[in-house]
Amino acid sequence: MDSPRKSIHGQWSSRLAFILAATGSAVGLGNIWKFPYIAGENGGGAFVLIYLVCIAVIGIPIMMAEVMIGRRGRQSPINTMRALATEAKTSRAWVLLGWAGVLAGFLILSYYSVIAGWALAYVFRTGSGLFTGLTADGVQSIFTTLVSDPERLLAWHTIFITMTMVVVARGVRGGLEKAVKFLMPALFVLLFVLVGFAWNSGSFEQGIEFLFQPDFSKLSANGILIAMGHAFFTLSLGMGAIMVYGSYLPSGASIAKVSIAVSIMDTLVALLAGMAIFPVVFANGLEPGAGPGLIFQTLPIAFGHMEYGAFFGMLFFVLLVFAAWSSAISLIEPAVAWLVENRGMNRVMASVVAGFVTWLFGLMTVFSFNLWSEVKPMSGFEVFKDSTVFDLLDYLTANIMLPAGGLLIAIFAGWKMSRASSVDELAMGDRFFYPLWRFLVRYITPVAVIIVFLNAIGIF
Ligand code: PFF
Repeated sequence: MDSPRKSIHGQWSSRLAFILAATGSAVGLGNIWKFPYIAGENGGGAFVLIYLVCIAVIGIPIMMAEVMIGRRGRQSPINTMRALATEAKTSRAWVLLGWAGVLAGFLILSYYSVIAGWALAYVFRTGSGLFTGLTADGVQSIFTTLVSDPERLLAWHTIFITMTMVVVARGVRGGLEKAVKFLMPALFVLLFVLVGFAWNSGSFEQGIEFLFQPDFSKLSANGILIAMGHAFFTLSLGMGAIMVYGSYLPSGASIAKVSIAVSIMDTLVALLAGMAIFPVVFANGLEPGAGPGLIFQTLPIAFGHMEYGAFFGMLFFVLLVFAAWSSAISLIEPAVAWLVENRGMNRVMASVVAGFVTWLFGLMTVFSFNLWSEVKPMSGFEVFKDSTVFDLLDYLTANIMLPAGGLLIAIFAGWKMSRASSVDELAMGDRFFYPLWRFLVRYITPVAVIIVFLNAIGIF
């Protein structure tokens, strides 16, 4: 028996369309910008291993739970949680999970958009041949000049938020579904080209070793939390983005299959990005722990020394912008869907309102790279002693809000929803896979998230 509800926002045209949209959401700055720099900061191999384990054991089951809840409720995450909590005859407080997701979406998009703005700026910088023949120092100073100029960052941030609002306002199906179909494969091809360049950079082995040889002495408890948080971030889990996309999924599609497909593609993109970047880092004597500027300080060196590098460089940053764009719309969609459902707004109005709120929040990140670069609000704590406002926003959302949201989603799907509802929605048969999933979301995922939390604050 299918859920009787219908989405007022429409549906994806097919299962493939959902896979593309969800992959569009998952693959983004998290894979290409964030994964390499946090892997670099946390010592490489051991971090990568924990991240992969988290994707498999925590990420995939929670993605299935989120898609399932979304498709069952067929509304914005807030209203879906209300409807399903009523259906399960449990506390109405579950609605708060929807609200927390909307808040996380605003906060994440607020900084995501600023970083996407860097990528936009780099489309022009690479395209004009600015990096041709430059040394690592030259490339670095171009990056520093960009981020230390608040007006420039603000302008790019504004452009990116506007781009996001335009797509969200038009509905997801028309523009994005089509664009992603072409862009994702192009991104893959280009990443392979870059890995090919890295192969010839002279330090390929060193790069691969850094990425894949686990040395647990380099990994702190906080590093484990960051790896787990990143598993949530990169798969877009824990805040309702995948839930709202699930609410547009046609009834017959297999939730397990689509979730696994999305997770595999997402992981491949991250690993390819790492394989493209670290050899270049080592070949040029750069620091793998350089922080958020890592790809902006390394890849241009590769492009600057490659034949037709200006062209390939431009293409790469264009694709990065598209990857970020297709993620950004999913960050804001839960809020927009709610504004349409509950405030009677049309999509255009709802997008403008949500976009403006995000834009305002974004100012914090814009300034934290320049005017506020010395502001360290939590410097009293050892782990946060060097953290800027941007670092803290990123930490709070990715490492605390998303895993906590994911934990609650697992508890809701595993303990609150009736077995009959999840059996019915997942349609995996009753033999092996369904019991495995149920065991994972009921026991393994919640316990793992809690242990990692406790471990990070030094209790476990
Ligand atoms: N998954 C996106 C990335 O890796 O860039 C970021 C993201 C999108 C996080 C949507 C959370 C979300 F709900």
